[in-house]
Amino acid sequence: MSSFRLTRTLPVDATGADLRADVRQGLGHNPKSLPPKWFYDARGSELFEEITRLPEYYPTRAEREILHDRAGEIAAACGARTLVELGSGSSEKTRILLDALPGLHSYLPVDVSESALTLAAGALLAERPSLSVHALIADFTRGLALPDTPGPRLVAFLGGTLGNLLPGERNVFLKSVRSLLRADDCLLLGTDLVKDEATLVAAYDDAAGVTATFNKNVLNVLNRELDADFDPDDFAHVARWDREHEWIEMRLRARSALTVKVRELDLAVTFEKDEELRTEVSAKFREQGVREELGAAGMELSHWWTDRAGRFALSLSIMA
Ligand code: SAH
Ligand code: AVI
Repeated sequence: MSSFRLTRTLPVDATGADLRADVRQGLGHNPKSLPPKWFYDARGSELFEEITRLPEYYPTRAEREILHDRAGEIAAACGARTLVELGSGSSEKTRILLDALPGLHSYLPVDVSESALTLAAGALLAERPSLSVHALIADFTRGLALPDTPGPRLVAFLGGTLGNLLPGERNVFLKSVRSLLRADDCLLLGTDLVKDEATLVAAYDDAAGVTATFNKNVLNVLNRELDADFDPDDFAHVARWDREHEWIEMRLRARSALTVKVRELDLAVTFEKDEELRTEVSAKFREQGVREELGAAGMELSHWWTDRAGRFALSLSIMA
């Protein structure tokens, strides 16, 4: 018998309070910035799925290739009974893991996007009637409490979403993941790798303009949730490779000097012509850096796999 539960671990008004705090902080200081989790309302989640199918956006295809090639090894190294997936989105690639884990009892997708969770869980339950799915609406940067399901646990954090956190945030986050894990539990981590600038920039500035629409969607979220009056056409999409930090930065650049009202916050935000608002970093990694970041959080990398073109890596850490 299939089973499905959807749990909101955030109080209903927590998301609103968080958004207000992030907007006050991020738009009230120079340089302006917003955390990338605000991209993902229902439309943002749809746009991300469109991005994964773009010819320029290689990470999804590269990670899927590794999962196809290595799912058997992952299952042999970590015979999980519970698969926890952080930032699960559509759970599309996850099916490869679900197929490879023979003794799996529970799947716990965790995401801030309620629409992505309900769509993904509905599709999975139709396909896999014996799977217990317990979806959690939660912010994975805010400390997670997981339901009591059978171990061992495999925590998957795919897609390269770790790179959307800043280095200090990654350390706090990885330590909080470590605290969820017991002996023999595992972390499966997807990380995009450093490569030539042209390939990276094209992946975040596609010819069809889907990433530009995704980037500007955060302005629609602010308009709807905080009664702001951003006109997305007033801003240009910018994707830039930061060689020093080895990350892509997405920004929105004001095409002219303008003032935006955020009525719910009683805030007027002024932009100078060409002033930029940072909406996302997407860090790219090297093996040694991933090893060190895991080590700093008390985890040891035991397997490192890349796709055949060496663009993306999956790593597995097994808890001692
Ligand atoms: N893992 C999927 C989706 C990646 S998109 C893949 O590899 O294709 C990033 C996902 O993380 C989105 O579904 C988004 O809603 C979710 N997300 C982003 N920040 C989050 C946060 N702080 N807490 C929980 N989910 C988050
Ligand atoms: C979810 N995350 C890993 C994506 C990335 O590549 O950093 C989000 C994204 N931003 C622009 N395109 C895709």
